[in-house]
Amino acid sequence: MIHFILNDKQVSTALPKGMLLLDFIRYHRHLTGTKIGCREGDCGACTVLVGEMKNGELLYRSATSCLMAIGNAEGKHIVTIEGTNIQGLNFIQQSFAEEGATQCGFCTPGFIVSLAGYALCKNEATYKGAIDAVNGNICRCTGYKSIERAVEKIAGKLGERKGTDAITFGVENNFLPAYFTGIKDKLLALTKPINKDSNQNGSLKYLGGGTDLYVQQHDTMPHTTIDFLFDKTHLNGITQVGNRCYLGAAVSVTDIAESPIFQQHFSSLPQYIKLVSSTPIRNMATIAGNLVNASPIGDFTIFFLALNAQIVLSDGINTREMALNQFYKGYKQLAKNPDEFIEKIYFELPVHDTKFNFEKVCKRMHLDIASVNSAISLQVDNDIIAEAHLSAGGVGPVPFYLAKAAAFLKGKIVNETTIEELITIAKDEISPISDARGTAAYKRFLLGQLIKAHFITLFPEHNFQQMIAV
Ligand SMILES: Cc1cc2nc3c(=O)[nH]c(=O)nc-3n(C[C@H](O)[C@H](O)[C@H](O)COP(=O)(O)OP(=O)(O)OC[C@H]3O[C@@H](n4cnc5c(N)ncnc54)[C@H](O)[C@@H]3O)c2cc1C
Ligand code: FES
Ligand code: FES
Repeated sequence: MIHFILNDKQVSTALPKGMLLLDFIRYHRHLTGTKIGCREGDCGACTVLVGEMKNGELLYRSATSCLMAIGNAEGKHIVTIEGTNIQGLNFIQQSFAEEGATQCGFCTPGFIVSLAGYALCKNEATYKGAIDAVNGNICRCTGYKSIERAVEKIAGKLGERKGTDAITFGVENNFLPAYFTGIKDKLLALTKPINKDSNQNGSLKYLGGGTDLYVQQHDTMPHTTIDFLFDKTHLNGITQVGNRCYLGAAVSVTDIAESPIFQQHFSSLPQYIKLVSSTPIRNMATIAGNLVNASPIGDFTIFFLALNAQIVLSDGINTREMALNQFYKGYKQLAKNPDEFIEKIYFELPVHDTKFNFEKVCKRMHLDIASVNSAISLQVDNDIIAEAHLSAGGVGPVPFYLAKAAAFLKGKIVNETTIEELITIAKDEISPISDARGTAAYKRFLLGQLIKAHFITLFPEHNFQQMIAV
């Protein structure tokens, strides 16, 4: 039995925990305001809000219900478009109507829900922040200018909030219905989620946020035995011990983006995060899901490979550790037994003489998977490279750790000759194939350009810019 709050009502259901939240909402609760567009997390028509208690606070994040299992809703507050309604139009709906930001209306519930989520977030409201909140919502017919105007109006109103609690302000200013003020107490009264599926058919599957699994296997997941990892306390949290950073396997991309430890040690983190999927997907996507999915272009896999990260595997009884760069044996083949799950990931944080950079080239600048991505970490003393790690995605069957290129860099001086030689070695080491993301020759060329971009970014004092055109 699963218990959660759907809009203003508690629901309890014995339906399979692997059922999609979208199907539960529409077909079992007949809340058809939540739309089905792509069913792959791309369009945002199915966006809902997920509220949960974290460290004594009620926090809301957006999610695409087409990729979220109802098991991951356990103990939480799920808000659909119906749950944002008040008497008459709410402030967000009114702004859309006034600015002509809706035509066929198919995408509109998703936009409204995403912006209701923004109204609930405790950060100071800005236009840019509000636009980011709808970066997972696509509109096919209105055109974005009128939507931008509506968002500007909404962000402007939210800017008046100043220190007032988000729910109090939202209710008083017609952003949210009044029942939101009682949700915290209702959540605290809910029974503690267990998050173990009792469905005994088929083999056991570990589930993080579901943003890979439900794209590939949405038909079979409701009939699968699932171990829900997303909310397990011991698989969550980002901590620093000495100079070492530990991440629970179920840490999401948003958790990383909001982590003070990451913000302090990776000054370009917001730029990197922007290159990864969209707000609702980042809210759901876990790090272990990215590593185990083993996509050759997984962004955080490439990120952590260049940090020489270690992973801790567990079968529930015994644990063992290995370097992430030893985890990939062939296309989607992992050095892990089927019953093992990733428990945590750890790496040494970049210190004063360590430089780190991540680059990604996609067909679209944002919300796209990479054609080629790459990350580098260099320990440099007086322009001499003491330690180097280099990774690249989209250039072989697995996320690639460029061992030969990294070894070459050790002891080298930072100059154009080193970069040119490094690129030659790196291009020899990879084996890209031609596919929808580009030809093998193009990907080889891109890796060279990304390596130059690393050095241009990390050593601005050397003026390597002129190399990029070569
Ligand atoms: C619209 C969209 C855009 C995307 N954009 C990007 C992008 O820009 N960059 C990118 O890198 N990815 C992208 N992805 C892919 C996806 O979001 C990421 O790979 C994500 O990190 C997967 O995490 P998850 O928790 O959702 O994985 P899940 O779907 O829950 O799981 C994926 C795999 O990992 C396994 N697994 C999960 N956790 C564990 C664990 N702890 N131990 C062992 N196995 C585990 C599951 O069994 C499954 O095999 C996108 C996906 C979508 C739908
Ligand atoms: S239906 Fe398109 S994101 Fe869910
Ligand atoms: S209003 Fe028609 S898709 Fe956006």
